[in-house]
Amino acid sequence: METLNVLGIETSCDETSVAVIKNGSLYANLISSQDFHTEFGGVVPELSSRAHLQILLPLIKQALQKSSITLSDVDLVCSTAGPGLIGALLVGLTFAKGLSYSLNKPFVPVNHIEGHIFSGFLMDDKPEFPYLCLVVSGGHTLLLIVKSDTEIIQLGTTVDDAAGEAFDKVSKLIGLGYPGGPKIQQLSENVKNDFIDFPVAQCKNEFDFSFSGLKTAVLRFIQKEYGTPERIPKDDLALIAASFQRTAVKSLTNNVEKALHKFNVNSISLAGGVAANKLLRTEFERIAKQYNKKLVIPANEYCGDNAAMIAYRGLKLYECGFEYSLNANAFPSLHQNTLIKTSVLTN
Ligand code: KG4
Ligand code: ZN
Repeated sequence: METLNVLGIETSCDETSVAVIKNGSLYANLISSQDFHTEFGGVVPELSSRAHLQILLPLIKQALQKSSITLSDVDLVCSTAGPGLIGALLVGLTFAKGLSYSLNKPFVPVNHIEGHIFSGFLMDDKPEFPYLCLVVSGGHTLLLIVKSDTEIIQLGTTVDDAAGEAFDKVSKLIGLGYPGGPKIQQLSENVKNDFIDFPVAQCKNEFDFSFSGLKTAVLRFIQKEYGTPERIPKDDLALIAASFQRTAVKSLTNNVEKALHKFNVNSISLAGGVAANKLLRTEFERIAKQYNKKLVIPANEYCGDNAAMIAYRGLKLYECGFEYSLNANAFPSLHQNTLIKTSVLTN
């Protein structure tokens, strides 16, 4: 199995990505980001699909070349099937299915979030089962216990906005633009004290998350103090960004710590676009030390959307004996084509 040449394709949102795993090692993980959405303040689905169409084939050629293989050497084709933007997903999925059919090689549709969950395995130092995993992206916020390659238990999720979505919305609100995460992080960098006390939401399920109240609290603060966002002085803007970031990160890490008190795990891992956040990483380092757990945070290129995690997950599912047909279709929401179980664990 280790010797299979795997082609992975990811087109779920605004990154086109192609990866090649050869002899069990990652040879290429090419990512082309659609920066042009910035001027619209968010991803425009139809523009995203068209851009995937244009870039996918050249990117596949480049990835194969980088890995010194040709199409006929590909043994397994994997592609994200969902969740994501349907039009965008269809570009990668349809191409992958066509390729699999023409090469007469197996095809594995991959759940994008499962890709993120196992992205720690792309690192040299890998997570050890069972591990606690926080997936934080633009569309999802999930706290999970990963017991094995095929047993994933969801402890909590967001009841409203995703963590990345909260960063993006607050960024837009204070005039920083899209994507908000890196912009808020950068503006917050020099703020060390005098933080504004924004509330951390408490949910009915102790492991769920909520960010819409925090977003409203930021808005109310701005309205009360300045009237409109345009009137915020530059220094105060940084303080608002940093205070929001601190509270958002606290909402995430509070639940991680609660889970560590309740469940016995060997490692903790962080995944998804928001995992690039420096404060969140630093907090995870503190938690790992305090609770004496192995910490695996993927490198930045494996945190955001990438095809390496899709190729890895597809290969693992194939090795585990899952069978797929070319009838697999694209799907928009998380709980389809997934091994993630939502039943609550008691330890
Ligand atoms: O996983 P991802 O690349 O795409 C989705 O599947 O959604 O995540 C994108 C999200 C965006 O909301 C972006 O603002 C956020 O990740 N993000 C960050 C940072 N870098 C990206 N959020 C906080 N801090 C960052 N440094
Ligand atoms: Zn993602």
